[in-house]
Amino acid sequence: MDKYSWIDGQGADLAAALLHSRQTILPKRLAAPGPDAAQLQAILAAAGQAPDHGCLLPWRFVLVPQQARTALGEAFAQALRERDAAATPEQQQQAREKALRAPLLLLLVADELGGDPDIVPAERLVSAGCAVQNLLLMATALGFGSALTSGKALQSRALRTLFALKEGERALCFVSVGTVQSRKPARARPVPAQYVATLVPGQGVQPWPETGGNANEDRDQPL
Ligand SMILES: Cc1cc2nc3c(=O)[nH]c(=O)nc-3n(C[C@H](O)[C@H](O)[C@H](O)COP(=O)(O)O)c2cc1C
Repeated sequence: MDKYSWIDGQGADLAAALLHSRQTILPKRLAAPGPDAAQLQAILAAAGQAPDHGCLLPWRFVLVPQQARTALGEAFAQALRERDAAATPEQQQQAREKALRAPLLLLLVADELGGDPDIVPAERLVSAGCAVQNLLLMATALGFGSALTSGKALQSRALRTLFALKEGERALCFVSVGTVQSRKPARARPVPAQYVATLVPGQGVQPWPETGGNANEDRDQPL
């Protein structure tokens, strides 16, 4: 029996509890301790469960351990100078300090070009999004807070050089994980009526009812 086959349709409550408990905890609110070696392995392995058309593995994560944070901070300061030659020393220092937050820091990189050209960048980015969400959920399941952060530095020459990104690779976001120091109230979530519609023959795309619909209703219709 597969190690995880016990879930076999029984995991909805567990999945809902996990999904509903994940929220962004910004890096400044994430402190030590971070994940230990076994927890880190579980968090990283979760990403590998992402769907991946053509099995291209079109994304990867780069760990940024504490001893590499000074170099990352320098790249942030340099990225700021790239786009604003007049950046003050204080602004550069603030940029450097962003690299020091959160005990676990990873950069998510997508490969938009390598391998099968029929698998377009959008598909690869969807796979990367699934991978990072898996990672965030496993971090949540282990009791950690987490956040994705982006910003203009991701596109900078300084950051591309530091991480030795190849042509066709794109730095998507940083992932921070750590122990929650404080959290904001959970935000209001969108409901399916805001993001779901149904294609109805002869009527075009119709909104999903506020009260919820029945995606299986076609099954009762003769073919
Ligand atoms: C790719 C990506 C990049 C993000 N970058 C930032 C960021 O730079 N700063 C920030 O405050 N939040 C960032 N976020 C987090 C969103 O702001 C956050 O997910 C949103 O507010 C919803 O909150 P929730 O994650 O608690 O649902 C990013 C989210 C994604 C998906």
